[in-house]
Amino acid sequence: MAAARPIPAAQADASGGVITDLGSVTPLVVAAMERTPDPRLREIMAAFVRHMHAFAREVRLTEREFETGVDFLNRIGQATNDTHNEGILFSDSIGFSTLVCLLNNGRGGATETAAALLGPFWRMNSPRTENGGSIVRSETPGPALFAQCRILDPKGRPLEGVTVDVWQASPVGLYENQDDTQADMNLRGQFTTDPDGRFSFRSVKPAGYPVPTHGPVGELLRAQGRHPYRPAHLHVLAFKPGYRTLITQIFVDDDEHLRTDVVFGVTEHLIGDFRRVDDRDPPQADTGRPWYALNYTFVMEPGESVLPRPPIK
Ligand code: BEZ
Ligand code: FE
Repeated sequence: MAAARPIPAAQADASGGVITDLGSVTPLVVAAMERTPDPRLREIMAAFVRHMHAFAREVRLTEREFETGVDFLNRIGQATNDTHNEGILFSDSIGFSTLVCLLNNGRGGATETAAALLGPFWRMNSPRTENGGSIVRSETPGPALFAQCRILDPKGRPLEGVTVDVWQASPVGLYENQDDTQADMNLRGQFTTDPDGRFSFRSVKPAGYPVPTHGPVGELLRAQGRHPYRPAHLHVLAFKPGYRTLITQIFVDDDEHLRTDVVFGVTEHLIGDFRRVDDRDPPQADTGRPWYALNYTFVMEPGESVLPRPPIK
């Protein structure tokens, strides 16, 4: 009988090889991807493989746990549709979205930033609304809020002509696209800053709400003994050619979940002064008391003005 041909040991280059032991897997996989023409894809995938392999080694991942993980990923995809983005929610719930946000803003994470995660509920084509107009488009509970905001450049000069999307959940705890009882685009509006960089609008004081927990992310939160709440906030997306698109949130200062946001979006910088007003008439006569006033100034940095891909339709 002929002697078996020796099997070549794994080689850490693109000519390939076979796995000999645990230590030979990672270099072989990284080497197999070395010919990737796009250098950034090559860099990202090599690092991804190294870190994924290191993760499995660190926790000594069992085959049952591996199956659970793959099932979890598959179900994230299955739970995602035109009105719900479970993938973004997962990334948010493990602090990954905030990490990416901080890496890309505030001079590469060196300084505090005015930016915050986008979240899964931004929609394109919010209704154009006059400055001072209301974004309450159907009956919505909660005290009235009058917001007066300003957008400046880093030298403190007003920025005119900034397109500003504003969106928030209803105090019942749902965005309009999650709730058939709200009018389409309720609590969403698009404004343009005036020559003094100002935009203003009427809304209701935001309330905290739980993120959707019907899918795999909800299961994970329950398994981790974590609450699903976001502190009350307003979302803002400001766009002007020549300036870095500013995606951020302003948080209500008296919210009980300010320090335990389930998606880790709060920074000190983003805590707004939502002032309860008892001793002055509201700007619009039909408003009950108390009402709330918010004054907030945003700064936009010069840079590339790109819009994110909308997480839902
Ligand atoms: C939101 O604020 O809209 C949000 C952010 C992350 C996950 C879920 C909701
Ligand atoms: Fe939100």
